[in-house]
Amino acid sequence: MIFVTGGAGYIGSHTCVELLNAGYDVTVFDNFCNSNPEALKRVEQITQKKINLVEGDCRNRAAMVKVLKESGATAVIHFAGLKAVGESVEKPNAYYDNNVVGTLRLLEAMQECNVKTLVFSSSATVYGDPIKLPLTEDHPLAPTNPYGRSKWMIEEILRDLYHSDHAFKIAILRYFNPVGAHVSGLIGEDPQGIPNNLMPFVAQVAVGRRDSLSIWGSDYATPDGTGVRDYIHVVDLAIGHLKALEALRAINSEKMNSCLTINLGTGQGYSVLDVVRAYEKASNKRIPYQIAPRRLGDIAACYADPKRAFDMLGWQAKLGLDEMCANSWHWQSNNPSGYQQK
Ligand code: NAD
Ligand code: UFG
Repeated sequence: MIFVTGGAGYIGSHTCVELLNAGYDVTVFDNFCNSNPEALKRVEQITQKKINLVEGDCRNRAAMVKVLKESGATAVIHFAGLKAVGESVEKPNAYYDNNVVGTLRLLEAMQECNVKTLVFSSSATVYGDPIKLPLTEDHPLAPTNPYGRSKWMIEEILRDLYHSDHAFKIAILRYFNPVGAHVSGLIGEDPQGIPNNLMPFVAQVAVGRRDSLSIWGSDYATPDGTGVRDYIHVVDLAIGHLKALEALRAINSEKMNSCLTINLGTGQGYSVLDVVRAYEKASNKRIPYQIAPRRLGDIAACYADPKRAFDMLGWQAKLGLDEMCANSWHWQSNNPSGYQQK
């Protein structure tokens, strides 16, 4: 049984599909602060399997102890957390409380229940402004906002925990830019309010929910002047979690390093204009846009060196930008208002 915090969210729901399809039992623990239980009904529809769902908050240690014990969980995938960079600047306490304190409570609960295998959602944001591209895992860490610092702090906590107890098996996964949706069109990204991120915004323009896209800057030192990112299909990302879980399980000696830090990206950078063009092709819609000033805190380019993931997990991304856009569009056009039926 795998205990999945934040399993109703965007990446969590796609990972639940892959876990269930691979034969794992899944317990989702989520407070639905940024998700809808409907997502898990859809996961059950896709997989024809049942999820054990418990509504709860990761800052509640006792609640997690109870669920870990009752479910017989042997490993944890920890997605739960807040993730909006701008909001984290406005409300830093909420980010440190939810992300850092929530993780500490989870680790205490795991220790109490002797569950010592953990896959953690970190982010490429821990690198800050890249000194050198592509980003390798040993690049210096210099996050530039409270969200990024919360992920960096959790990483440090996990490394300290591992040094104190080598029975822990931990995979710290640094995601690049997850986009796209499950091929069924039943689950996908469903941001609340105005999307901060590029692909969901473009999707909402294509479906007619928004008039046009603002491109934040066209004067970066990139091939076409717009920002370059390493977009990764959410299904590839989900499969990366399974591979990480399997790699941790295969470590059978406390002498082997079992605290792994791994980039999950494709290694390929695409510009904002590349994404707009690919989305127009996938949706057969025009995406009107205007060039706007740079967004505060944005960097010119960010993409992964994904070699370690291949060497350590035998994982590499398979799906390209066209599939990311086609699957995003399938989800968006079938569910123009996300999980909220209108
Ligand atoms: P999401 O918001 O869709 O999912 C997070 C889930 O956690 C939601 O279902 C939410 O209700 C739940 N949650 C939040 N706080 C909780 C708490 N205290 N207790 C219980 N449940 C709680 O986000 P996502 O895109 O699926 O991201 C999952 C993880 O991956 C996050 O930790 C995020 O920081 C990290 N990450 C995301 C991205 C991205 O671009 N999507 C990039 C890098 C890292
Ligand atoms: N962009 C626009 N217009 C928009 C939204 C975005 O032009 O309306 C541009 C940005 O300026 C950037 C690119 O599109 O050049 C990607 O922006 P996103 O907001 O989609 O993604 P970021 O790379 O800024 O950040 C995301 C997550 C972070 C995570 C990071 C990991 O929001 O939480 O990826 O690399 F840490």
